[in-house]
Amino acid sequence: MENFIVSARKYRPQQFDTVVGQSHITDTLEHAIEENQLAQALLFCGPRGVGKTTCARILARKINEKDGSVSEDGFAYNIYELDAASNNSVDDIRELIDQVRFAPQVGKYKVYIIDEVHMLSSAAFNAFLKTLEEPPAHAIFILATTEKHKIIPTILSRCQIYDFKRITIEDIQGHLRNIAQKESIQYEDDALYLIAQKADGALRDALSIFDRLSTFSQKNITLAKAAEVLNILDYDQYLNIVDLAKENKIPEVLFAFNEIVKKGFDPHIFIAGLGNHFRDLMMAQNNRTIELIEVGEKTKMKFMEQSQKWSAQQLIDGIEICNHADINYKNSKNPRLTVEIALMQLSSLTANLGDTKKKSS
Ligand SMILES: Nc1ncnc2c1ncn2[C@@H]1O[C@H](COP(=O)(O)OP(=O)(O)OP(=O)(O)O)[C@@H](O)[C@H]1O
Ligand SMILES: [Mg+2]
Repeated sequence: MENFIVSARKYRPQQFDTVVGQSHITDTLEHAIEENQLAQALLFCGPRGVGKTTCARILARKINEKDGSVSEDGFAYNIYELDAASNNSVDDIRELIDQVRFAPQVGKYKVYIIDEVHMLSSAAFNAFLKTLEEPPAHAIFILATTEKHKIIPTILSRCQIYDFKRITIEDIQGHLRNIAQKESIQYEDDALYLIAQKADGALRDALSIFDRLSTFSQKNITLAKAAEVLNILDYDQYLNIVDLAKENKIPEVLFAFNEIVKKGFDPHIFIAGLGNHFRDLMMAQNNRTIELIEVGEKTKMKFMEQSQKWSAQQLIDGIEICNHADINYKNSKNPRLTVEIALMQLSSLTANLGDTKKKSS
């Protein structure tokens, strides 16, 4: 059997131009190297799985390449990596500081990557501070962390700070699309969108969900499979319930809700999600606000179609009914009933009962 390499490793970018969604950083770094304006201490911070370690390695390599200290077979002599998560003692840092003193044997620069730098003990931080204050001319430090607030100000003030961003849903989706094509994996675009959404800005998380799904679905990632694995209520379930409500089919709506609860979904999350669905329908009625819906293109079309069957006022009432149930859920002695009442009200929105709301005169 072929060894399976997880996508996050297989597709770790080797060059700045393949890093996704951080061009404000990669462009600056590229420029700084070209112009010889690189600071001696850099701090890469930002959420997890967005390319900090990746960029630190690319940068270190670029410095070495420019320096001529990469061997013919690609070995970079002057890159040292310390994972502060597992080497966080004063002794670990002292060892590093001892090394830093010596000039490189080949090339001009030694690059030190200290990953997860917030994990250093405070004694280790302090020991490091002196070196960072007056580093030898040949030393460049790249520090990386998810927790900038844990870095003491004296260190922060000595570093050039690069803030990495969460990757947008569209960028993640595009990246997954590329990989799916390279790996000959079939996919529905909206399924990739859902994965990207679930990853919450972290590309690494997106890739690991993607791997899991690709195995589970035998290389055919559909929206339904994605929703199943991610344990997300499929948009189709909301679409279905709202269609039934439109037809005033109260028993069918209650039955569909029961099926959802039987699958283990929390009724509270369900009703909040349904409220969100009504909100999306309202947005879908207008071609400016439709951009505010966070779903894939195909799903967007379905939302648009459904939204045409409702009046704007009915949708607003729908949002309010769900919102009301959402707020009351926790205080209710019978929360399930709270949701069921809401569903019955929703199923009556379009029932023309001769307009029971009489205006007071
Ligand atoms: N911006 C990105 N562009 C392309 N791939 C990325 C990006 N960010 C993360 N990845 C993918 O995720 C993997 C992990 O990224 P990386 O180790 O650089 O994240 P990190 O920001 O250092 O995360 P952590 O804070 O958890 O250490 C990479 O191997 C790569 O496959
Ligand atoms: Mg990292």
